[in-house]
Amino acid sequence: MEDKEFEKIAKGLINSFALVIKTAQIHHINNVAVVNAIQKFLSFLNPILSSEAVTIELVGEFFHLNNSRVRYSMEYIFNFEFLIEEFKKKRLGAIIFEEIVQEEDIKTLVNTIISSSHAEMPFQVIHKALEKAPQIHVKELRKIRDDHTEFKKKQLIKRSYLNAAALTKDITNRVKAGEMVSLKRPKRTIGAIIDQLIEDESMLIGMTTIKDYDEYTHYHSVNVSILSMALGHKLGLSRKILANLGLAGLMHDIGKIQIPIDVLNKPTSFTDEEWQLMKQHPAHGALLILRIKEIDDSLLNLVIPTFEHHLNYDLTGYPKLRHKVKIDFLSSIIAIADQYDAMTSARVYSRVPLSPERALSTLLDKSGTQLDPYLLKVFINMIGIYPIGSLIVLNSNEMGLVFENNTNPDLINRPRILIISNSAGERLPGKNTAVDLTEKDENGNYKRSIIKTLDPNQYGINLAEYLL
Ligand SMILES: [Fe+2]
Ligand SMILES: [Fe+2]
Repeated sequence: MEDKEFEKIAKGLINSFALVIKTAQIHHINNVAVVNAIQKFLSFLNPILSSEAVTIELVGEFFHLNNSRVRYSMEYIFNFEFLIEEFKKKRLGAIIFEEIVQEEDIKTLVNTIISSSHAEMPFQVIHKALEKAPQIHVKELRKIRDDHTEFKKKQLIKRSYLNAAALTKDITNRVKAGEMVSLKRPKRTIGAIIDQLIEDESMLIGMTTIKDYDEYTHYHSVNVSILSMALGHKLGLSRKILANLGLAGLMHDIGKIQIPIDVLNKPTSFTDEEWQLMKQHPAHGALLILRIKEIDDSLLNLVIPTFEHHLNYDLTGYPKLRHKVKIDFLSSIIAIADQYDAMTSARVYSRVPLSPERALSTLLDKSGTQLDPYLLKVFINMIGIYPIGSLIVLNSNEMGLVFENNTNPDLINRPRILIISNSAGERLPGKNTAVDLTEKDENGNYKRSIIKTLDPNQYGINLAEYLL
């Protein structure tokens, strides 16, 4: 199956299964709404079953369809989330369909999934009930290895990240349709992220390194928002200013809605004419924001960074200014976060993203000319010399991924690592141990140290699978 074709079918399959369960939770199994949902699900399932078995498996926070990971889809995000929760509650690790199934078989499956809710061991109940539908099997979910509070915290952070992305999409659509936009919900969302940022910034920054979603522009805006607020927090800015930064991050590229879509998504380089169009997005954005209903000082704090985010420290960049003025402080912060996130993502299919390390050194080349040197210094310190998501080799010959930086500035080269392959070079799927590089042996020597970094893109490593 072609990749694109697979993605489409996989998403449709999982989304329609989520809808079957959702509808069957409200209505009787023979209700027409449930039957329609089942038919829809079967229209995805049975064509595949005519040539091969179908396994829907939950691996970490992702569904895999026949061993290929299904990407998060913006369209279906809440249905995906719902189904992931259902699988976890029922301890379902996988559902395997061996042969073509009938409506009745799906009814048996769905009925038992729903009625097992109050059982002490829901998985065993489902397993037993499926004796009546021999072409369907289930596998139990492996134990969650994180300790519970840590796991819950991760869940909450993931949820607010996804919420912010969905919100950005919603705002974009409203602005596109010429509707008024209230800033109440965005302010609440940003407020929640600030709380999480103050408590533990590394998990949130970790979320920004997972560049593996559909409709990347919305996630880009959330990433810029988070990275800007994190930098602002390091600088000791007040909550109110952090909230301004966060909102400005979400909105900074809103002007792109006025750029023709084929120019925006063009995989090859722009012609001069196309560049001129692209360069108008900051001005478009500023004007669009001014049309939002509640004009107050926080709205003005959105307009300025949106207008200035492609202007450089030395006042080069765009839009061209008639009168040279100093660039706003918040704009300079957004500019750094924006460039860093853009460099580390493959925005268009043909572009290869830079590793976090290379991106930082590229930014450093612009220090004092295009970027504010003081802000950049704080930013680089924050991202760390081994940014979250860096792939590193240890003196034990193990390979690992950085997942949390050391907050002690003297131990900045000793982050926490997830070991992903052992000293023999064997990958360790599903059982990666976390180690702290500050751990010492009985002689007082460090057990492990970093000897070099590698580019995760070159090794085909998907951060999302490890960091979520
Ligand atoms: Fe931009
Ligand atoms: Fe941007």
